[in-house]
Amino acid sequence: MACRITNEPLSIFLDLGRQPLGNGFYEKSDSYQGPYYELRVGMSEQGFIQIENQPNADLMFHDEYPFFSSTSAGMRQHFAKTAVWLARRLELAEGAKVCELGCNDGVFLTPLISAGFSTYGFEPSSNVASVAKAQGATVLDDFFSYRAAQDFLRKLNGDTIDLIYAANVLCHIPDILDIFRGAAAILSPKGHFVFEDPYWGDIINRSSYDQIYDEHVHFFSVHTVRTIANLCDLELVDVEKLETHGGSMRYFLTHKTYKTAVSESVQNWLTVEKMLGIHTWAVLENFATKVAASKNMLLSLVQAKLDEGKRIAGFGATSKSTTILNYCGINCEQIEYVCDNTPLKQGKFCPGSAIPIVSEDSFLRSPPDYAILFAWNHQSEILKSQAWFSKSGGNWITHVPVPRVL
Ligand code: SAH
Ligand code: TMP
Repeated sequence: MACRITNEPLSIFLDLGRQPLGNGFYEKSDSYQGPYYELRVGMSEQGFIQIENQPNADLMFHDEYPFFSSTSAGMRQHFAKTAVWLARRLELAEGAKVCELGCNDGVFLTPLISAGFSTYGFEPSSNVASVAKAQGATVLDDFFSYRAAQDFLRKLNGDTIDLIYAANVLCHIPDILDIFRGAAAILSPKGHFVFEDPYWGDIINRSSYDQIYDEHVHFFSVHTVRTIANLCDLELVDVEKLETHGGSMRYFLTHKTYKTAVSESVQNWLTVEKMLGIHTWAVLENFATKVAASKNMLLSLVQAKLDEGKRIAGFGATSKSTTILNYCGINCEQIEYVCDNTPLKQGKFCPGSAIPIVSEDSFLRSPPDYAILFAWNHQSEILKSQAWFSKSGGNWITHVPVPRVL
């Protein structure tokens, strides 16, 4: 497989084996019917980190997409705060046009609708899109692309967009040059294209290999985003480090022709990335070694607790958990259930491991001795809302940065 940006060969540094779809929660307990794919990660000469094989987008994003952004109170707060803050920081005038790529259930757009901005969203998963529409957002049920951008421009009658925002979605899209060119096509001359995604430096640093699954095809850094921007006549003018989703980076881009000042944080982060060597072969090999050690440690921990006669469950039926369970070979024989507050996931089974998914209520009614925090990126929120669990003698297990009892 060649790099999706430069066409150079990808050199594979991590093999997480045969995997089902990350969000492939299914209804019957007998078996997951597929598809499966080989989950391997590689780097190109220029430092682009990508998974080698990605299943077709239609298999992952459809009318039963099980991830709803609003299921976490912390993320609801994050997006509400971001919407207001961006409008202020970018000095968006009344009636300014905002377009979100991958708007999901409308969690980011809703506060902007109330504030009087003209809002648009692109969202191919029609079930989550319909929730956004019910909040009053104008949603195009389509994958964003250069072609979709051209159709959209015709609908805008010559107008352009003042703020394009995308959270945790650009890393999902294989043809990233096409997306950047599409964004450049609809962006107003002084507009901002702002996006945030899990940060490669954090994945390395925290050994959070579970961020790697079918939907996440690219793992961005300041270095790679700046290179992609340059190829598309865009300029990376600022970056901001975020703690959401286990460590993310927010990138601010403008047209090159805008010639606005570039914040010193861009150069600072480029220096940090060079110092840490996050695109060097030695660091990638070390990461792969730590991932293998993480698997062995988690397996030993789970086996030790089972040998003591303890009951183990999971908390959060995340796509991240699909990577862990299938890579480590953990299944319904070791883990009794996984609880999750998403109604669409409850009553289904985790792909590959056949672990049943139950409600948080069932967790309360039949708490295990140990709960593996598969939604570790929401740790503080969950430990607070489920404080009763530890108080009643329950124990949390995490695998980040190393498997251990919390
Ligand atoms: N922005 C939300 C949702 C992230 S999940 C948040 O941060 O919580 C990724 C979303 O992107 C899904 O809702 C998926 O349907 C959507 N998506 C996937 N490919 C897309 C594309 N090419 N254009 C627009 N949205 C896309
Ligand atoms: P994410 O890590 O991809 O954001 O997914 C988090 C999953 O965990 C999602 O399915 C919702 C679920 N969840 C709960 O069940 N309870 C909670 O308190 C939180 C924050 C998330």
